[in-house]
Amino acid sequence: MKNIKKILALLLAAALVFALSACGSSNTSSEAEKTSLTVEDGKLIMATNATFPPYEFYEGEEIVGIDAEIAALIAQKLGLELEIADVEFGSIIPGVQSNKYDMGMAGMTVTDERKEKVNFSDTYAKGIQAVIVKEDSAIKSIDDLDGKKIGVQESTTGDIYATDDYGEENVTKYASGNLAVEGLKNGKVDCVIIDNEPAKAYVAANSGLKILETSYAEEDYAIAFNKDNTELQKKVNAALKELIADGSVQKIIDKYINAAE
Ligand code: ARG
Repeated sequence: MKNIKKILALLLAAALVFALSACGSSNTSSEAEKTSLTVEDGKLIMATNATFPPYEFYEGEEIVGIDAEIAALIAQKLGLELEIADVEFGSIIPGVQSNKYDMGMAGMTVTDERKEKVNFSDTYAKGIQAVIVKEDSAIKSIDDLDGKKIGVQESTTGDIYATDDYGEENVTKYASGNLAVEGLKNGKVDCVIIDNEPAKAYVAANSGLKILETSYAEEDYAIAFNKDNTELQKKVNAALKELIADGSVQKIIDKYINAAE
């Protein structure tokens, strides 16, 4: 009888040890699954297209602008080192989907189509699609765009809207807004459809251009994340919320936009 009790006690102890170790190992394995928050430990890799003042553009060798500065503050809050990859606008979302980059931040408009591919942060800025024409242009409003040659930056919402509304054959897709504006100056296109703040920057930097009074479409800008990395999306949203609440985001926007007006 005593022996049986002993054996039972031993078995129970063994079972307990086993259960505990199983528990422990399941913990470590679930931790191992989400090894790191970002693609590269300690880094926050942001993909952008730095041809888009005042959101992202070069000042000498450095990428500066509203997005670059907000991203730097987000990285700081997350204890990560920000690294900016300057790529074609159309490669940002595919690169986020394939975990080449942690996030895409490029004055990127939230659209239903993009939402199928990536998750977006909360909105941090607004954009309006604007139309740039030559000062002496016959185009007076968007009602005059039918049949005109329209220049856009490839894969942007300007491209998508113009192609939908005026047909592929009327739209010339450029690698950057700058090149689209060059096309306008050279008479290759009759107008450029692009976000209003870069439009203002291009018009300021080039003589003989103006922006039509009528704007084309209103949009929200947000940061794109891989659909599987909701953890990073959450953390960035929390950081963004704090930076909006304490006025940091507004300060950056004022520095690049309002102050310049
Ligand atoms: N807001 C537009 C879009 O999301 C244009 C963004 C272009 N951004 C850039 N960094 N070039 O399609």
